[in-house]
Amino acid sequence: MTVKEKDDKYFGRGGPALNLEVEKAKGSLIFDPSGKKYIDFLGGAGVGNLGWGLEEVEMAIRNSERPSYVYPHFYYKPWAELAEQLAAITPEHLTTSFRATGGSEAVDAALQMAMMYTGRKKILSIEGSYHGNTFGALSVASSSNGKKFHNLLSGCEKIKPPLEKNALQEIEEKLKGNEYAAFIMEPVIVNLGVVIPEKDYMEKLDRLCKEHGTLLIMDEAITGFFRTGKFFASEHYNIKPDIMCLAKAISSGYAGMGAVMTTDKVAKAVEGKVGLYSSYGWHPVGTDAAIATINYMLNNTEELLDNMESISQLFKDELPKLRFREEPEIRIKGLAIAVDVGDEDYASEIKKKAVEHGLLMNTEGSSLSFLPALNIDSKTVLEGIKILKEVVE
Ligand SMILES: Cc1ncc(COP(=O)(O)O)c(C=O)c1O
Repeated sequence: MTVKEKDDKYFGRGGPALNLEVEKAKGSLIFDPSGKKYIDFLGGAGVGNLGWGLEEVEMAIRNSERPSYVYPHFYYKPWAELAEQLAAITPEHLTTSFRATGGSEAVDAALQMAMMYTGRKKILSIEGSYHGNTFGALSVASSSNGKKFHNLLSGCEKIKPPLEKNALQEIEEKLKGNEYAAFIMEPVIVNLGVVIPEKDYMEKLDRLCKEHGTLLIMDEAITGFFRTGKFFASEHYNIKPDIMCLAKAISSGYAGMGAVMTTDKVAKAVEGKVGLYSSYGWHPVGTDAAIATINYMLNNTEELLDNMESISQLFKDELPKLRFREEPEIRIKGLAIAVDVGDEDYASEIKKKAVEHGLLMNTEGSSLSFLPALNIDSKTVLEGIKILKEVVE
């Protein structure tokens, strides 16, 4: 049986796979067993901020005398070190990290913490968004999830984009009753095709949450770790989120990792009230990968940001030159890139054809979505855009 036949027969998937069997990955390139090269604009959907197989992270996970496992209720030096590092790189008021195995678990934990802290059950979020696959995460994401599962968390309400004056009025009306435990969103909504909220919107939202005792949760699973040009996308705005969810790029793809960052006040208040036990949360391998990832980012910040800026500009210059069926709307924040081609089927068709031609991307509705590594070089980007040109023209 071929790999594809075995996969079809035995392997459960939420949807069809892209036609690529991965054998090797290095930097921004992925190779199949025949040696065919694929340019990676997909970046593991936000995991590969430093590209694949970065030596500094690879060495950290290989060269360790670490224990194979540490029980969550023991002390372990690298956990304390990683928590200290996270407190240093996230906004100053976020001082405490809770462990998770990934983004979904982090989002669920954040919702639980907000409910416990406030004693409230309602949650507000953005319509059509995505926050993972636990029941909590599904409850605060697209309302269409409620058609599949009729027993999602009750009291979850959604604000429809566009995120401007009317949305803020609706939020104010809802929060006024002091019934909402939390408002959760991505600070740049990558899962809606890189929707970039206005500064005013975010700052008023922050003020409204503070006024009405609603915790503001920023889900930085994709936007964290320099994806949008700041260490965390929340830093683009003058806001003070009460909770931040981190995942994906935190461990450069070497192991499942997530974290919930919160204030000392919230952390102390929920201690002993929410379980938050996670057998594999911050596994020693993932912890070493995360520490090495963050160290690399701290030691190479200027270089990474300079490269990001010039690559971001390259996409801004080159993408408008492509002749799609209709002129697309292009939304770019750092290296979170969406090309809205106006039609979901057309976007999927491009994604499928691009794989055949050796270019990898994601789609979000009618948008092509690119999350390339922050250290991708301009030659590789131009090669990828040339493939995209062949595909669409
Ligand atoms: C914004 C956001 N939150 C949470 C998640 C869930 O993360 P994970 O797949 O690690 O559970 C994702 C995954 O794509 C995400 O994009």
